[in-house]
Amino acid sequence: MSNLAGKHIVLGITGSIASYKAADIASRLTQAGALVDTCMTPAATRFITPLAIRALTGRPVYVDMFDPEAETAEAHVALARRADAVLVAPATATTLAHLAQGSAEDMVALTVLATRAPVLLAPAMDNQMWENPATQANVARLRERGMAFVGPAVGRLASGHVGAGRLEAPETILGALRLLLGRNGDLAGRHIVVTAGGTQEPIDPVRFISNHSSGKMGFAVAEAARDRGARVTLIATPATAALETPYGVERRTVVRTVDMRDAVLAACRQADALVMAAAPADFSPTAAAEHKIKKDGSGRLVLELEETPDILRAVQQAGLDVVRVAFAAETQRVVEYAREKLLRKGVQLVAANDVTAPGAGFGTDTNLVTLIDAAGTVEALPLLPKYDVAMRILDRVVALLRERDAGSLPAPAGAVPEG
Ligand SMILES: Cc1cc2nc3c(=O)[nH]c(=O)nc-3n(C[C@H](O)[C@H](O)[C@H](O)COP(=O)(O)O)c2cc1C
Repeated sequence: MSNLAGKHIVLGITGSIASYKAADIASRLTQAGALVDTCMTPAATRFITPLAIRALTGRPVYVDMFDPEAETAEAHVALARRADAVLVAPATATTLAHLAQGSAEDMVALTVLATRAPVLLAPAMDNQMWENPATQANVARLRERGMAFVGPAVGRLASGHVGAGRLEAPETILGALRLLLGRNGDLAGRHIVVTAGGTQEPIDPVRFISNHSSGKMGFAVAEAARDRGARVTLIATPATAALETPYGVERRTVVRTVDMRDAVLAACRQADALVMAAAPADFSPTAAAEHKIKKDGSGRLVLELEETPDILRAVQQAGLDVVRVAFAAETQRVVEYAREKLLRKGVQLVAANDVTAPGAGFGTDTNLVTLIDAAGTVEALPLLPKYDVAMRILDRVVALLRERDAGSLPAPAGAVPEG
C-alpha cells in the first residue's frame, strides 16, 4: 500500500518515443490502487494505443475532446476537478510549450489548464531540445507557477546521443508523485530522522562485526513518512546499499555506531522526531588493526571488544526536543525487554519484535511488531508489510508530536535520569 491507493490520478501521455513507457507507469499506478484516468494527445496515439492503456487501467482514455460519444461533453472539467494529482509522462517539448502558454488544444493541455490539483511533469526529449532556451524558459515559467518536475534523466537517448532528456525511471516518477500527494499529509512541515541497517565495526581493513539488519524496516518508515508529507533524513549503513533511496528522502551513509550517533545528533538538532530502526552494533573492537590480521598458526584469535555509545541516550542527554521511537529486536521475553528499554532510553514508543518469529525481523518484507508506549499501553499489531507497520508507528508519532506541541509529551515513568 502507499498514498496512491484510492487516489484519482490523471495520466497525460504526449507524443514521444518514450510514450510506450507510460504503459508501465499506468500499470504501476493501477497496481498501487490508484484510479487512473488517461488523456492522450493525438501525437501520443501514434506511439502507443489508447486500447493498451485502457486495458492496463481498466478506465477510460480520452483523446478527442470533441468526441460526441464521450460520457460527458465536459470530460476534461470532470477529470480536472476530481483529480488528486495530474501526471504528464512523458511530457514533450511541445506540450511544455502549450502548458506554459496556457493553450488548451488537446485533452492533456486542456485538463492541466482546468485543474487545481498538483501537476507533475516528466519531460522526455532529445537533449538539444531540452537545452534549448525556449524549452528552458517554458520549464522556468511552469516551475514558477508551482508545477513540479521529475527528470529528465541523463543517459542514452533514442537518437544515440548521450545527455539530459531521458524519461525518468517509472519508479522514480511514482516516487515523485507520492511526494507531491503527501504535501498535505499529517506530517507536512515535520522533519523526521530515521536510521536503518546494521552498523559495521572494523576489526581490520577487510573485516568487520555487524548483524543481520537489512535496513528494510527503516526504509519503509522513511518512505511512509515521506508519503505523509514529512521531510525525511535517512541515516543508513552500507548494509543497505542495495535498497533504493525513497524519492525525496535525504540519505546519509554512516559505517560505525559512533558515526551514526554523530549523524543522528546533528540531524536531530532540527528535527521533530527520531525513529531508530537501525541495528547499531553494541560492541566494537577496542582498536581496529591497521593491516589485515593473518593466521598465526595458534588456532585462535582473541578480540577485545568495548561497548559502543548508546545513540538514544546521547539524544536524551543532549536535551533535544524530539519524539523518540526505538525498535527492540529480541529473541525472547520481547515485551518485558521492550518495556525495560523504553524506561532505560527515555523514548516515547518502542516497536518490539521477536526476530525469530516467522515473517518477522531481519531481511523480510513483513514484520510482527508490538507497540509499547510510555503510558504502558501494549498494542500487538498483526503480521503486516513493513510499510504498513511503518504507517502504524507514524500514526503514533503524529499523536506524540501533537502532545509535544501542546507541551504534554509523556515522560516515561521511572525514566533513568541523565548522566
Ligand atoms: C519518432 C519520434 C519521436 C519523438 N520523440 C519526441 C520526444 O521524445 N520528445 C519530444 O518533445 N518530441 C518528440 N517528438 C516530436 C513530437 O511527437 C511532436 O513535437 C508532437 O507535436 C508532440 O505533440 P504533443 O506534445 O501534443 O504530444 C518525436 C517525434 C517522432 C516522429
